Amino acid sequence: MRPYTRVCHSPAETRALAARLGERLGAGDVVALNGELGSGKTEFVHGLAQGLEVPPQLVASPSFTLAHEYPGRLTLVHLDLYRLEDLPPELLPDLEEYLSGESVVAVEWARRLAALLPGDYLEVDLEIVGENDRELTFVGHGERSWGLVRGLAAQE
Ligand SMILES: Nc1ncnc2c1ncn2[C@@H]1O[C@H](COP(=O)(O)OP(=O)(O)OP(=O)(O)O)[C@@H](O)[C@H]1O
Ligand SMILES: [Mg+2]
Repeated sequence: MRPYTRVCHSPAETRALAARLGERLGAGDVVALNGELGSGKTEFVHGLAQGLEVPPQLVASPSFTLAHEYPGRLTLVHLDLYRLEDLPPELLPDLEEYLSGESVVAVEWARRLAALLPGDYLEVDLEIVGENDRELTFVGHGERSWGLVRGLAAQE
């Protein structure tokens, strides 16, 4: 099983790739996004939302909210842990519920959630390789997520 790597040359290309993934996501899938500030994690989540048929006007701009929930073909839960170096213990029950439920969950700064990630999740690493270029690497952590990686790679 090999990671799938793609360079996207515009925000639109990153969204389109994420939308193709979003079309294939099923109940309970978790997408863990890692990458520095401005690497495109939020752009990617916008694309996922599109692929999950979330009405576009619903997707919020980044804010100080830890979790957003968007209704679509499936509910998309968007978590952003940027402002949390350490997870406050009072948040753990909510996070655990999101991660074990039927929603699709996309997490920015997912490494901060490492201990809570489920047995099977899809890792997406984003790297800035040029002003408008982002290298995206998809790694499965389990059968289900490797299947998603293969599906994306096969669409090339
Ligand atoms: N190929 C590309 N893919 C995605 N975003 C790109 C690309 N090229 C340029 N950009 C720009 O990079 C920025 C990415 O911002 P975005 O909010 O998605 O990053 P982020 O990883 O969520 O950052 P943060 O850690 O602050 O949440 C946007 O301004 C976007 O227009
Ligand atoms: Mg972001």
